[in-house]
Parts: sequence; C-alpha cells; structure tokens
Amino acid sequence: QALIGRELANSQVIVVSNREPYIHERDESGEITVRRPASGLVTALEPITRACGGVWIAHGSGSADRDVVDSRDRVAVPPEDPSYKLRRVWLTEAEEEGYYYRFANEGLWPLCHIAFVRPKFRREDWEYYKAVNARFADAVVAEAAGPSPIVLVQDYHFALLPRLIRQRLPEATIVTFWHIPWPNSEVFSICPWREEILDGLLGSSILGFHTRFYCNNFIDTVDRFMESHIDRELSTVSTGREATLVDDYPISIEWPPEALAGASSVEVARQTVRERLGIGADVKLGVGVERFDYTKGIPDRLRAVGILFERHPEWIGRFTFVQVAAPTRNKLEAYQGIRSESEQAAEEINSRFARNGWRPIELLIRHHEPAEVMELFRAADLCVVTSLHDGMNLVAKEFVAARDDERGVLVLSTFAGASRELLEALLVNPYDNDGMAEAIDRALKMSEAEQRGRMRMMRELVRDNNVYRWAGSMLLEAARMRRRRAIRKRM
Ligand code: G6P
Repeated sequence: QALIGRELANSQVIVVSNREPYIHERDESGEITVRRPASGLVTALEPITRACGGVWIAHGSGSADRDVVDSRDRVAVPPEDPSYKLRRVWLTEAEEEGYYYRFANEGLWPLCHIAFVRPKFRREDWEYYKAVNARFADAVVAEAAGPSPIVLVQDYHFALLPRLIRQRLPEATIVTFWHIPWPNSEVFSICPWREEILDGLLGSSILGFHTRFYCNNFIDTVDRFMESHIDRELSTVSTGREATLVDDYPISIEWPPEALAGASSVEVARQTVRERLGIGADVKLGVGVERFDYTKGIPDRLRAVGILFERHPEWIGRFTFVQVAAPTRNKLEAYQGIRSESEQAAEEINSRFARNGWRPIELLIRHHEPAEVMELFRAADLCVVTSLHDGMNLVAKEFVAARDDERGVLVLSTFAGASRELLEALLVNPYDNDGMAEAIDRALKMSEAEQRGRMRMMRELVRDNNVYRWAGSMLLEAARMRRRRAIRKRM
C-alpha cells in the first residue's frame, strides 16, 4: 500500500469500469440507500482506488444515482469515509442494451468462457459497443488533469478504449486488465470484429490477464490475425511504434477483507446463521456464493449434492447446502434459463430427501452484502466453487480469508484461475457430478488437523499475494515504463 502511494505520488490515477463500486438506490419509502454490487472486479479494485485516490469512471446504474452527483456527475465515495471521486457516465436504454447486455454479455462473455453457450454477434450491437467506448474515452479525457495520467481500464466492456485513449492522450500510461479468460485463437476468431478488438487492446502500455495460459492465448491470437512483432521472451507485442507488455497478474482480495472487521466469532456466526436459516446446531453446512451466472456451474453443483445423499445416505438430515445466488443480467435468455434449471434441481432434491423439518438445499436468490457473505463463510464447514470456467474467482479467496480459525474446506473447480494458486483445495472437475459428490463427502469427513494444514497454506498464499501485490506489480511496471520514457526523451 505504502509502495503504491510512493510510486504514484505525482501521478493521476483514473480507473474505468462498466460496473460502479457504489450504487445509490431509492427504496419504497423514498430513502436513498447505497449498495455494493456483486462483482469480483469491484471487490478487487475498490481497496486499490481507496489507496491511490483519483477518479473512478463507471456507468451510473442505480435509481438514485443521478440524485447524489454534483454538476460534473461526480460523487465522493466511500460514503462513510470519502477518499476518491466516482464519476458516473449515463447510458441511454438503447446504449445499455446494445453495448452491455448484447455485445459484451451475449457476445464477448460466452466467447471467452467455455460454457457451451453460443456467442451472438450483431452489427447493431457492435455499433453501440463502439459508441459507448468512445463516450468513456471522452470521460477519461475530461477527467485527465495533464497529458500523462495513469489510466486503469477494466475488462471486456472496454476492448476499444485503450486505443481511443492513446489517440487522444499519447503520453498516457494505459494499464488494461482483462478479468475473464482469453480463449484460444480459433475460438476468438468467431468474433467478426476480432482485428478491431485486438487493435483496441494493443493501445495499452500493459495488458494483464490472470494466468500465463490466457496471456499465451492472447499472444497467439495476435500472431494469427495481426501484422505484428512479438517478443515472446519479453512478452511484448507491437503493431506500431509502442509495444504492449502482455503479462499475468493473478488478481486477489484485500487482506484482511474490510468486511471482516467487526465480524463476530466463528462460534457465534455458526449459531446465528443456523438459527436464521432454521438449520439444526449439529447439521454440517456447505455454502456456495455467486451471481446467478451460467458459467458458475450452479445446477451441476446442486445435482452433485443430490448424488451425495444417494451414495452416502448417512448425510441425510446431517448436511445442508446453502446456495446464495445474486440475480444478474436478468434480461438475457441464457440467464433466465439457469435460474429455472437451478430452482428445479433444488426442488427435486428437496422433495426427495427432506424430512422432519430438515431440507438438503436452501437456495437464496437475492443480493447479499459483503458482511453477510463473510458471516456465511465463517458459519460453514465447506465452501463449493465449481465454476465451469472462471477467469480467477475471488469467492474462493474470500472464503479462505474469512477463516481465521483455520477450519473449513474449499472444493474448487480446476477451470477457475484460482485453482492454479489454491492447491490445497479439493480440486474437482465441475462437469463430473459424481466426482463433486465424492469431494463433498471427503470434505465433510476431513479431520481437523488436515483442514488446518490446508487452510493455513491457502491463507498464507492469499495474505502474501493480496490485491495490493496485484495492483502494485502492475503499477510498479507502469512507473518503470514512465521513467524509461522520461530518460529516452532527454536523450
Ligand atoms: C464479472 C466481470 C465483471 C463484472 C462482474 C459482475 O466478474 O468480469 O466485469 O462486473 O462479473 O457482472 P455485472 O454484469 O453485474 O457487472
């Protein structure tokens, strides 16, 4: 944190993402409330932005967002202790539909995640995507206090933004992070505007991915579709004068998480959560927490819980699985389908195995605030993260961070980037329901000593490779680039 502050002492930092870190809503009584959205990106970026100050530009999406901004569409956040400015960009309904729902979430999202959902690409959505990227470029230029800010561009909503900023602020240091996987070049070539997207991203000074595998996929894609110079040893790519450094920076969380401050003891959390959900004190608890997204593998996971009771009936009445699912991108068909499929799976399993007031599955479909999620993690005996495909997955790291008692077992998909780091989790194939059921059984039977050994290793890793290290290594690299450029200029 101190290092970030020192390196950036004289630089202006501008963060750009689609999702805003604070959403102002008006409730039924007319009161304004503030919500923290469910987004791995926001979880990671927020502590960093608090540490560097500056401006965060994002789409204003809450019903009361307009009521709290000043004449420049800015509001100081966090509400309880303001340390930076949130600048909101207003999108029309048509823009939100074309750029966010359709091009980003019906095109790029399934293109980059292996979940066997067909990406949809339509010319009119592409036009909106381009137009909205240009609108955010205007906002960055308007916020830039000088010719060379450090701009942190986030995610697949803004593939064209780095180039657009580069054209207007050639001296800017543009650090782009792609929070989702990058597919192999054959898959990527489905996108009719693949060259434009690659060129847009190559406007960055640094382009980051979670894993080396995604970096290699990206470099191969450039190699295949662009006239370029690639230096595989330095991991740089250039199509013109300036090279882009393409490197892996595994994202992480704040250590310890803010939401843990003031948390009650694990014993109290165990009791409170069980009482609230009507689960007996001696019943073991498993949790899953995610947005209701088809990449998260929720229906398969629920079916695995069903198989557990079938194969290991000794757990009937002795284990409950709580799945928190936050509604997300509801307008899209693929998302509506996943909700009904999960509800159906939960109902089937509940009607088959429930008895004497005990239910095997609790499906809680609503947004949970970070402190509530932490409480659930602390109350649980195990946490299941079985994404079909996931850039990193921060829920896995949050569960580990929540367990300062060194207890609890993490069951983790090998297709989540986090599985490259959290090697002491029970790693599973999310397409293998029988295998997942056996892993849950193994987790439920794991000795305290083994839990402690595994949890301790994972906690050390998340503590050391926390989000400050993630941002710090990118920002230090950016600072180095700026110094090199200053030296070159003087020569
Ligand atoms: C993923 C994406 C983020 C996004 C988050 C929540 O983590 O990489 O960019 O913010 O999902 O999705 P939403 O569409 O609600 O912002």
